[in-house]
Formats: sequence, C-alpha cells, structure tokens
Amino acid sequence: MTADASPVHVLYATATGTAEDVAQSLSESLAARGTLIKSCTTVDEYNIASLPVHSSQGHRFIFIIATCGDGEVPLSMRKFWHFIRRADLPGGILAEMRFAIFGLGDRAYVKFNAAARKLHLRLQDLGAAPFASLALGDDSAQGGYDKELMPWFASVCQAVVPKSHTNTNYTDRRGEVIEPRICVHLVDKGKGTLSGSAATNIWKSGQAELSDSIAVGDLHESHVLKNDIITDAAFLSDDKEVRHIELDVSKAPAKSGLLDYIPGDIVHVMPRNRASAVDAFFQLTGFDENAVVRVEQSHTKKRFGSYTLNVQQPCVLREFVSAQLDLSCMPRRRFFERLAPFAADAMQQEKLIEFASADGADILTQYAYREKRTILMVLRDFPSARPPLDHLVDMIPVLKSRAFSIASSQQAHAGQIHICASIVRYTTPLKFARVGVCSSFFLNLGVGDVVPIFLEKGTSLRFKESKPSIMLGPGTGVAPMRSFISSSKPNVNGNTLFFGCRSRRGDFLYEKEWEQYQASGQFSSLVTAFSRERAGAKVYVQDKLLEECENIWTLVAKKEAHVYVAGAAGAMPKSVRLALVEICQRSGGLSEIESNSYVRQMEVDGRLQMECW
Ligand SMILES: Cc1cc2nc3c(=O)[nH]c(=O)nc-3n(C[C@H](O)[C@H](O)[C@H](O)COP(=O)(O)OP(=O)(O)OC[C@H]3O[C@@H](n4cnc5c(N)ncnc54)[C@H](O)[C@@H]3O)c2cc1C
Ligand SMILES: Cc1cc2nc3c(=O)[nH]c(=O)nc-3n(C[C@H](O)[C@H](O)[C@H](O)COP(=O)(O)O)c2cc1C
Repeated sequence: MTADASPVHVLYATATGTAEDVAQSLSESLAARGTLIKSCTTVDEYNIASLPVHSSQGHRFIFIIATCGDGEVPLSMRKFWHFIRRADLPGGILAEMRFAIFGLGDRAYVKFNAAARKLHLRLQDLGAAPFASLALGDDSAQGGYDKELMPWFASVCQAVVPKSHTNTNYTDRRGEVIEPRICVHLVDKGKGTLSGSAATNIWKSGQAELSDSIAVGDLHESHVLKNDIITDAAFLSDDKEVRHIELDVSKAPAKSGLLDYIPGDIVHVMPRNRASAVDAFFQLTGFDENAVVRVEQSHTKKRFGSYTLNVQQPCVLREFVSAQLDLSCMPRRRFFERLAPFAADAMQQEKLIEFASADGADILTQYAYREKRTILMVLRDFPSARPPLDHLVDMIPVLKSRAFSIASSQQAHAGQIHICASIVRYTTPLKFARVGVCSSFFLNLGVGDVVPIFLEKGTSLRFKESKPSIMLGPGTGVAPMRSFISSSKPNVNGNTLFFGCRSRRGDFLYEKEWEQYQASGQFSSLVTAFSRERAGAKVYVQDKLLEECENIWTLVAKKEAHVYVAGAAGAMPKSVRLALVEICQRSGGLSEIESNSYVRQMEVDGRLQMECW
C-alpha cells in the first residue's frame, strides 16, 4: 500500500487514560515522520458533522479504542457510537472514509476488545474501508499491548507516512524534546497574591466559571453526610475495609442529573492526591509550591478534557498539582520517552531511552509494571532528569475520576447519593505499602467535606421491575442491588439477592437492611455465600446459584427473570456465566451448545446484565 498525503485524524476512546497515551504518542510519532495530523482528540470531541459523508476529499482516521465495563465503549465515544449505530444511516454513507483501529483490552475479560471490534464492523457496514488490519492489544499478554502495537504501527506508517520517511519503528525517537500541549504562566510568586477560593481551591474556581449550560460530565459539589466503616476488622484476616459514604446532593443543579439518577447509574468522584505525595513532588522537583500559576492549553492539542477541572483560572501551584496530576500512577512508555531528553546524566538518559525503546519492553514491564513503580518513584530514581514545569505537567497523566455504582435510590434516600467503597490497600513486590488514590481520599473525608462528583448514566445495568430479578452482588457489587431493592415497591415477583463475602461477622455488608427490605416485601429471598467461614472448599455466589438450579431455571425459563451481576472483574463474572450455562443443561435439559446460545440470547435480550470493574 502506498502512502497518500491527506490529513489524519487520531481519535481515541478511553476510560482510564491508556488509549489517550497511545493516541498522543502515535500522533507525535507520525507527525515526526511527516504525516499531517489534523486532530488528536477523544472520539466524542470530534465534530460528527465533519465526518466524510459524500465527500471526495481523502479522510483518514486512526481510532485507538479501549473497552470498558462488560464489553462496552468508553464514555468518551458514546455520542459517536450512538450516532453511527442509527438504523436510518444509509449503507454507503462513509464510503469516503479510510480508517485503522487499534483496540485496547484484556483477555481476562469475557468480551475481549469488544468496543474496537464493534466499531470495526460498523464502520465497514457504513461503507468505510480499513487501510490497516484491526489490531487488538492485550494487557494480559507478555509485554502488554505493545506486542500488537509495534507491528500495527509499521503497517499504519506504510499507509500514511510520506515515502521519504522510511523509519517505521514506533519507539525510535531518541532524545527528542516534544513540545508540551500546555503553557504554565507564573502569575505571581508566593501565597497571598490572590485572595479567596480562586487562590486556594482550583475546583471551586472552576465551579465559579460554570454557566447555565452545565452538561453531565461537569463536576458538582457534594457534601459528606456519613463516612462509615462497615466491615469488622476483628473478623477479617487482613486489612480489608469497606466504607459506606453518604453524600448530600440536594443542592445540585437540576441539569447535573444527580437528583434524577436511577438504579444502575454511576457516580464519578474526583479525588485529590495524598498530601504526602504532593510534598514528595515538590521535594523532588524543587518547584515553588506557593507560586500562583495559570495553565493554558493549546486549542489544537488539548491536554485537559471535559471531565477535568478548570485550569484557566490562576491558582496556587500546590493546589493544581493536588487536584490535577496523577502522581501515583504507573508511568507508561511515553513518560520515559519524554523524560529522557531532560536527563543531564548520560547513564540515566541511556536507561530512560532503553525503557522507551521497542527492545526495552521487557525491562520496562519489570521496572514499571511488575514492581508497580509510580511517577514519583521514577523521578526519585532519575534525579538528573528534571524537565521544566510545563513539560512535566504535560507528561504526567491527568488525575482521573473514579466510578462508583450508586448504592442508594431517590425513593429511599432523597437528595443523597450513597457509595459502597472497598478501600484499595496492597503491598508492592518491592514491599511498599500502597493505598489507592481515591481510597486514601475517602479515608481522609470528614462530615461536611466537599466531594467533587458527576453522574454517568449507567448502560450495563438497567433494572426491570416488572420481571423477577436474580441479583448477584458479591462484595461491593451489592451497591447497585441496594439501589434497586431500596427503590422497589413491595412486589410478588420473587426477587432474589445472592450476596457473597468472606464471613458473616467480618464483611456481610448491609446485613440489617436486608432484613428490613425483606420484611417490607421489597425483595423476597437472600442467599449468602461466605467464602471463609469453614475449612475446605470456598463457597462463592456462583456455587449458590447452582445449588438453586431448579428455582433459577424456573424463574429464567418460565417467568422471564432478569439476571444482574455486579462486582470485581476477574473470575466471578465468568463463573456466574458458566453456572448459568450449567443450569440450562442440568435443569433445562439443553445440550451444551444450546445452553451457551441460550445464555448468549439472554445477554442480547438484556436479560443477563453485568457491571464489573
Ligand atoms: C463502572 C464502575 C463501577 C464501580 N463501582 C464501584 C463500587 O461500587 N465500589 C467500589 O469499591 N469500587 C467500584 N469501582 C472501582 C472504583 O472506580 C475504583 O477503581 C476503586 O475504588 C479503586 O480506586 P483507587 O483510586 O482507590 O485505586 P487506584 O489508585 O486507582 O489503584 C487501583 C490500582 O491499584 C492496583 N492494585 C489494586 N490492588 C492491588 C493488589 N492487591 N496488588 C497489586 N496491585 C493492586 C491495580 O493496578 C489497580 O488498578 C467501580 C468501577 C467502575 C468502572
Ligand atoms: C472496569 C473495567 C472493565 C473492563 N472491561 C473490559 C472488557 O470487557 N473487555 C476487554 O477486552 N477489556 C476490558 N478492560 C480492560 C481495558 O480495556 C484495558 O485495561 C485498557 O488498556 C484500558 O484502556 P484505557 O486506560 O484507555 O481505558 C476493562 C478494564 C476495566 C478497568
């Protein structure tokens, strides 16, 4: 295939930032090889009206698409996805579009790279033609998604890089300084030059800017009403902790959606970095934490998207770093690539370049991913690499909001949103004790504190009150079930909740409430699976589901019951699916093939829904 000179749009869809990182890096690599990059934005930031419909100009699109939820498209491409799925779009409408897709996913999930696959098929349905084959990155593969990315990049280069540039090696940009997408202006030195909230709280200053046209996705202020530990450490062998957090949203504007949520919806919390991490950042970099700065971003290469804070207003640098930069994330290859040119020490520079190179994929995996290093640890390990502030701010990923399945309902908890949060604590292979960013934010929240949040309409779980519900919510997966049950009218549908945890006394979440809801007829049956109560084989919700084989089959086959599953991703959702297949065989008398297609059809019909994280 020969390269043509028409411009390229690089569009990405991300939930946690990887796709953005890949898209930015790819754009820079292609631009360095003479390709005209017209835009590099999220899919939804691209103006749908500019799609090449009946246009004779060449238009090439590169999509970097992550899969989230249960095989879903990320929030940052939902508008676009809804648009191109419209049944009334004529078949050849995108005949002028040429595209290439790189998917980001993980084979540990049942629907591996589903979003990228779906997009690939749909664009072709609409007449668009791929200029490179679909490539699917796998987080679980040795060397991660890079294994697929490198050869795919070479084929993309053949199609879009002018012939005069022969280098198709993705990572071969040794020692290049890449222009930052932002500019940090020093407004004033030291504290006290600005007064009030604008100087001290970047989030509040952003809030003051909000106009009437607040869209879902903007941050809103909520206040902590409760922050209770609902596990009992005395009965748990490790430091597992779950918190029940109640937020007052009664004053949220109507357009925020925070007062209209329904079971299955999701609240996003915008955490802040731990004070100790922020202290370390300033110690390591030597920047003045009290400086007052204004951060401006280039319009063509936007750095801070719509889900982040207002950065145009002057603010104290410490506040900016606390609220905006993901200091605790694991650095990706691109971070090393961009840090390398700033290393004054030749050996350190060599090492950084090695990490960023194709040959260095394995040592990077070991150093950064297996040993779970953070950006701050890298800055500590490479003391001679000190980029100027605007470069460093551009290199460090933006602090992302964390999603939580809403655990409350309007009917039972008017003006409130409840979160059931498991606190992430673990020890790294290098024996560092870690607490998750949002977890540590939660640990420090007191009554009355402000929590910036926004609502995401759920798409994975849509409860149907008119049909019997079989709910499987082990651990914090019980959150959306609590929302649904507390919103239910007393009914005769025979709703069943399967709850799983380690032990009755350690982490049986909301135990007393279930008794009340059952007594008031809001659900009829609770089945518990305590995995660590007895010696011997552990018992999980999927085992309990199988024990109830006949009942479940009757509910599903005769009463059109809906099955809802939520909780940590990993073995549980797959095992529940397998248990359903087995139930079809055992109690429904179907063959294995028939059982698999029965369960598949349940998914298609929305009768088997999963929200796993
Ligand atoms: C749609 C959706 C709904 C969700 N609902 C809920 C909910 O209701 N309740 C809830 O508690 N969470 C929920 N989550 C998860 C939640 O969004 C956060 O991911 C979680 O709270 C952790 O955030 P954190 O900032 O504390 O951790 P982070 O700082 O993001 O750290 C998490 C990272 O730490 C690492 N890690 C964690 N444990 C270990 C370990 N044992 N060993 C090694 N590394 C480890 C992993 O790399 C992991 O990605 C949901 C997620 C999604 C996408
Ligand atoms: C909550 C959650 C759900 C996920 N669901 C899927 C999935 O259904 N299929 C898949 O292939 N990968 C899934 N993944 C893996 C991500 O697609 C993968 O980690 C990707 O690199 C993330 O890219 P992003 O950071 O741009 O969002 C999931 C990851 C998370 C955290």
